[in-house]
Amino acid sequence: MAGSLLAGSPVLILYASELGTAADLAKEVAHSLLRRRLNVKCMEANELDPFTSLPIYKTIIFLASTTGQGEIPMNGKDFWRKFLVKRIPRDWLKGVEFTTFGCGDSTYLKYNAAARKIHGRFSQLGATQMVARGEGDEQHSEGIDGSFFPWLEMLVETLSMKYPLPDGVEPLPADHLLEPEHFVTLTSHRKVTYLVRDVMKDLHVQRPASRTCHIVRNKRVTAESHWQDVRHITISVPGSSARWAPGDTVTLLPKNFPEDVEEFLVCQGFTDIADHPLGFMRIPNPAVESPLPGRLVQPLTLRTLLTHHLDLTSIPRRAFFGMIANFTDNPVHKERILEFTNPEYLDELYDYTTRPRRSILEVLQEFSSVKIPINRLIDVIPVMRARAFSVASSNTGHSPGSFDEKIDLEILVAIVKYKTIIKKTRQGVCTRWLASLKEGDPISVVFQHGTLVPHSTTELYNKPTVMIAPGTGVAPMRALLRERIFDKGHYLKNTLIFGCRGKDTDFFFQEEWVELVRRDFLRLNTAFSRDQPAKRYVQHVILEQAGHLWERIFKQGAVVYVCGSSGNMPIAVREALIKVFQEKGEWEKEVAVAYLAHMEKEGRFRQETW
Ligand SMILES: Cc1cc2nc3c(=O)[nH]c(=O)nc-3n(C[C@H](O)[C@H](O)[C@H](O)COP(=O)(O)OP(=O)(O)OC[C@H]3O[C@@H](n4cnc5c(N)ncnc54)[C@H](O)[C@@H]3O)c2cc1C
Ligand SMILES: NC(=O)c1ccc[n+]([C@@H]2O[C@H](COP(=O)([O-])OP(=O)(O)OC[C@H]3O[C@@H](n4cnc5c(N)ncnc54)[C@H](OP(=O)(O)O)[C@@H]3O)[C@@H](O)[C@H]2O)c1
Ligand SMILES: Cc1cc2nc3c(=O)[nH]c(=O)nc-3n(C[C@H](O)[C@H](O)[C@H](O)COP(=O)(O)O)c2cc1C
Ligand SMILES: *[C@@H]1O[C@H](CO)[C@@H](O)[C@H](O)[C@H]1NC(C)=O
Repeated sequence: MAGSLLAGSPVLILYASELGTAADLAKEVAHSLLRRRLNVKCMEANELDPFTSLPIYKTIIFLASTTGQGEIPMNGKDFWRKFLVKRIPRDWLKGVEFTTFGCGDSTYLKYNAAARKIHGRFSQLGATQMVARGEGDEQHSEGIDGSFFPWLEMLVETLSMKYPLPDGVEPLPADHLLEPEHFVTLTSHRKVTYLVRDVMKDLHVQRPASRTCHIVRNKRVTAESHWQDVRHITISVPGSSARWAPGDTVTLLPKNFPEDVEEFLVCQGFTDIADHPLGFMRIPNPAVESPLPGRLVQPLTLRTLLTHHLDLTSIPRRAFFGMIANFTDNPVHKERILEFTNPEYLDELYDYTTRPRRSILEVLQEFSSVKIPINRLIDVIPVMRARAFSVASSNTGHSPGSFDEKIDLEILVAIVKYKTIIKKTRQGVCTRWLASLKEGDPISVVFQHGTLVPHSTTELYNKPTVMIAPGTGVAPMRALLRERIFDKGHYLKNTLIFGCRGKDTDFFFQEEWVELVRRDFLRLNTAFSRDQPAKRYVQHVILEQAGHLWERIFKQGAVVYVCGSSGNMPIAVREALIKVFQEKGEWEKEVAVAYLAHMEKEGRFRQETW
């Protein structure tokens, strides 16, 4: 047992995370501090009642990602509501030391807004900052890690100075295994009876509020000759439960392919026991509480566990190497693996994993002496995360309550497939699985409320729209257009600026737009980036349409939506809008920038980029 140097008051690590990034980092902070033999408690923010529990802790670390339109993720919202209560006295957290780390994306106007708000509130309540706030940015060349690692190092150093180890006591080395959080064990030596080939298709992880639906169609909507595969997938949903609004998403939990599972079983020497039943146990009151995204699949065997729960093809993080170093007797392998855990070799780690996007499965195949014990699998291999997809269809016009009725839900999915310096083609775990689905296949769906589109009863919703949506970003805009036209008729003004590679390759929903334009429901402007020698993007269209956009946005008060790939697009779009405001308003740049910020504040500039 790691001796506690902070008896009575562990370091509290809280996280609020929408898709799991901030949660993973919180766990990494916890593990780093446990290695310094500090006592820690790490959990979802909502799990803690600030009134009764917060002042017990003297050292608090909060990790939060920003979601929606600058909001705190779901699993931190309850905490935040209570934390904000006005009657909390200003010196309530006097004597408490804290810091925060945010996960965000600098192409959003409200960059890291959640962590900044939380940080501000801690200060306001009298807590003392022990380390400056860290801000992770998806746009950094090394992603969130680019600022996470330096921040973590500073934090560990600060706490090590505050709570030095007694003479002769060393931090736990990277390859010393920490206490497990979950435990799986073989419970019988009799095989489970199931058809191995159905393990992927017929079994599903039951997540909170998940429902089993069926694939109706899975249609490729890019030209066969075009390199990019994009699917228009129609899913039949039981009518009794299907209620969504434009801007909502569905989350889907990917599954590993049987070939990959088989390769893993072979490389770990598990083939003989792959289909034997497993038992699962949570360790009571663990230092790190990381909930699994749903109940474990049944029947539970190594094969089903690997198919449904463990992300075998994800890119390994630094801590992964520390753990697998414990599972090899090969000194050459061990030395090489341990190098990757050394903070001084971050570049090597990056060159070996992130840059070529080498997967966990490939790393294990390369370091073939590593044999992970069954009971450690769930701790060592990251748990599979759900992926979000914007709903591309509207459900208006369907009556609720009927169990027999089925409603079609549609999504538009860009299949991720690319090459890096490793020759083998890389594929996205979720989209590769989605591409393989056939008519009639079951699929488990969870609906999630979005914040992209204001509620249909609000004044904002009824304003004219300007939708800027390259690529699959057009999916939520299709849902919104359908809803607006079905609901209100054509007096609602809509402008769509759509971008894709070519008129004949990936012009999604072309016929629908043409029909809407013909019926005067829509104004459409397109940017085909590769149909001429020079690139033509949505931001170029914005500049061309300056007069129209000024009329719509400034004079008619339109709501502007920006959807699609993150990266340079949203930045370029914002710059183009600012230019339009400058030109048409005859404004100085600062005035135009301020106007955009004002629009954002009013909810008239809305972005969802992924
Ligand atoms: C709110 C929201 C709505 C979304 N809506 C949609 C939608 O409507 N349609 C849609 O298709 N997607 C949508 N997404 C994205 C979707 O959730 C997934 O992220 C995406 O489908 C990829 O998942 P995957 O599991 O296939 O890929 P993963 O296995 O997660 O791999 C993706 C990773 O691969 C890497 N990568 C991808 N291409 C390259 C390349 N060329 N070179 C190097 N590295 C690369 C990137 O690092 C990327 O992060 C949405 C995301 C969010 C958050
Ligand atoms: N390679 C990458 O790093 C990268 C980045 C984002 C997405 N993707 C992949 O692309 C797929 C998503 O596809 P999608 O159909 O939604 O389309 P998309 O990749 O977002 O492309 C849609 C359109 O946007 C254009 N575009 C590219 N850069 C732009 C910029 N800076 N500003 C404005 N427009 C820009 C593209 O043009 P051009 O392609 O002609 O430049 C294309 O015409 C996924 O499979 C994803 O993995 C790859
Ligand atoms: C729908 C959506 C909205 C987002 N809004 C913001 C935002 O307003 N500000 C910001 O800095 N980052 C924003 N981001 C980026 C996320 O914060 C970033 O990707 C983060 O790493 C996600 O962490 P998580 O996996 O813990 O949820 C947004 C991402 C998505 C998908
Ligand atoms: C593995 O970790 C344990 C602690 O759980 C430690 O006692 C042991 O020495 C480590 N073994 C190796 C080979 O690193």
